[in-house]
Amino acid sequence: MRALDERGAKSVYVDGGQVIRTFLRAGLIDELTITTVPVLIGTGVPLFGPLGRDVPLRHLSTHVLGAGVVQSAYAVEGGRVTLRPPCAERGGTMPRTWLTERFELQVPLVGAPMAGVSDGRLAGAVSAAGALGMFGVPPSVPVSWIEEQAGIAAASGRPYGIGLLAWGLSDEHLKAVLRVRPALVSVSFGDYAPYVEPLRAAGITVAVQAGTTEEAVQAERAGVDVVVARGGEGGGHGRDDVATLPLLQTVLDAVQVPVLAAGGIATARGLAAVLAAGAEGGWAGTAFLGCTETTLPPEGLRRVLDAGETGTAYGRVFDVAQGLPWPPEYGGRALRNTFYDRWRGREDELARDEQARAGLEAARQGRDFDTAYVYAGQAVGTVTRERDAADVVAGFAAADKLLSRFAAP
Ligand SMILES: Cc1cc2nc3c(=O)[nH]c(=O)nc-3n(C[C@H](O)[C@H](O)[C@H](O)COP(=O)(O)O)c2cc1C
Repeated sequence: MRALDERGAKSVYVDGGQVIRTFLRAGLIDELTITTVPVLIGTGVPLFGPLGRDVPLRHLSTHVLGAGVVQSAYAVEGGRVTLRPPCAERGGTMPRTWLTERFELQVPLVGAPMAGVSDGRLAGAVSAAGALGMFGVPPSVPVSWIEEQAGIAAASGRPYGIGLLAWGLSDEHLKAVLRVRPALVSVSFGDYAPYVEPLRAAGITVAVQAGTTEEAVQAERAGVDVVVARGGEGGGHGRDDVATLPLLQTVLDAVQVPVLAAGGIATARGLAAVLAAGAEGGWAGTAFLGCTETTLPPEGLRRVLDAGETGTAYGRVFDVAQGLPWPPEYGGRALRNTFYDRWRGREDELARDEQARAGLEAARQGRDFDTAYVYAGQAVGTVTRERDAADVVAGFAAADKLLSRFAAP
């Protein structure tokens, strides 16, 4: 467990016999007054205690009352206090996991990076809602874009993350990311290994998305903090070799590092399933495609809302048409459309067809989604109305109810 001062609190001390006021910036407790050790904790009114020095390191559920103050849990550890913010203000019992602990989350969920769709606004909104939001960096953007989006995401006052594509990562982009220092960086799809240590050395938690168990083991060997087991039903790019559930089961047994599950997790039901299996959280992209905070134009949003679970297809058509140097094993899952159907299986021909390629770019600019792409996973069938990110995260938070279904009364 880490101490408060490493996680956004202005200060924290527990120094026997002294009265110390600690102002927390976690947004969940306005003020925590720690008196002596034994400790009394409250907001002006001593609500609990005393807790002796010999309190073992474990969760101590309590309720701290006061303006804007909600349920919390804390533990005493060798003279320091560690705070565990509430899992749910709704009185739920969302499990605390590595993910919630590491980033002070209320919901064990990452809003996945989605280049071209999630920028700082969506990332910040997801983080503000109690999950961890990320924005995806397209290789083509200027460095200033990364800095700008990081500023927007950071304005939530909560941890956020940045998703990088290893095959297209420039030194300038890496330096910008190191400068803005998000809490989490994922770097996937290509030779990510050289980036792991520089990022970790900057105090950034590093994730890699793995599409096979072997890839997960390699990521662990490369020194990442967390592996994302990403199944082929997921939206955007990745492998299409294994579906999320079989992949998650083997990855959980194969690696020691924390594992998040991605691909098809779009509601509380999906999140509950992967948490019950042993994942430390979900990593969801498609679920947020219907959000008001994405950069999708209205025409693209309409396609998302209208699409059903069978409305996506996996392949390289759109990458080939754009001349993008994605490693061939990482195709993309997108909404199936006329352009895809026309060129599927004829990618070599497409690569030489200047007119078709120019047509795709024109369609993208003209928002013609019979030709232009919208990356989305099979869970797109669950996205049926426009919502804001906070509403989507709140929906995921209902996983706690599902998980408590079999709990002893
Ligand atoms: C529109 C879209 C864009 C994506 N862009 C990125 C990206 O830039 N970097 C990345 O690591 N993953 C990207 N992904 C993959 C997601 O991080 C994640 O693996 C995926 O969304 C999980 O599956 P789900 O869509 O079923 O939730 C993208 C996914 C989508 C849907």
